[in-house]
Amino acid sequence: EARRTVPGYRLGDPALPPSPVTLEELELLKKTLLLTEEDVRYLRMAGAVMQPQIEAILDVWYGFVGAHPHLIRYFSNKADGTPNADYLARVRARFGQWIVDTTNADYDQAWLDYQHEIGLRHTRAAKNRTDDAPSVDQVNFRYLIAFIVPISATVEPFLAQGQHSPDDVRKMHAAWTKSVVLQTILWSYPYVRDGEF
Ligand code: HEM
Repeated sequence: EARRTVPGYRLGDPALPPSPVTLEELELLKKTLLLTEEDVRYLRMAGAVMQPQIEAILDVWYGFVGAHPHLIRYFSNKADGTPNADYLARVRARFGQWIVDTTNADYDQAWLDYQHEIGLRHTRAAKNRTDDAPSVDQVNFRYLIAFIVPISATVEPFLAQGQHSPDDVRKMHAAWTKSVVLQTILWSYPYVRDGEF
């Protein structure tokens, strides 16, 4: 099983601290995003279509980051600004697992707790720690929000590769986007002033 073989991956680790967001607050966020049981079914369908294409999807995302100096710098060595191949590779493995998890999510306490950990891993609190990477201290918050667009838009052609109707592709894509927005909101917690989230 992938989970045990991906270094630094901690979904389901009972030693993870609990998220400061409650399950009740999570349900209200889902309601606000119009993320329904139907979306959860379409996410499962999307998972089946995406799973065999994970490496190709990661190639597109990493190609996008790699093509932009203002983005690749977050994966680069702090000392000289050169991309850190080990760091890129280790994060890529967890990113692949994250695709699977996004389509399988059941929005329970363990999932919520790992959301908080992933958020922290983009901030000064915990970036670089998992991989002992000598990189810059944080991903600037503005890019977390901006990234929703490419992470959403780039999966559509991959979803269209499955044997599903255009209507199902549209619904899978909408469900994927809602889930990415939900997760980006949860990852915002450590960037937001105390008491304001
Ligand atoms: C880590 C997704 C925004 C740079 C990760 C991981 C995922 C992910 C799944 C691995 C989490 C884990 O450790 O299990 C996303 C998504 C984003 C987003 C969905 C926005 C919608 C960004 C942006 C950058 C970035 C804009 C900047 C280029 C990084 C870095 C790590 C990381 C450097 C490694 C952090 C560490 O040291 O552990 N991201 N990310 N991310 N992401 Fe993002």
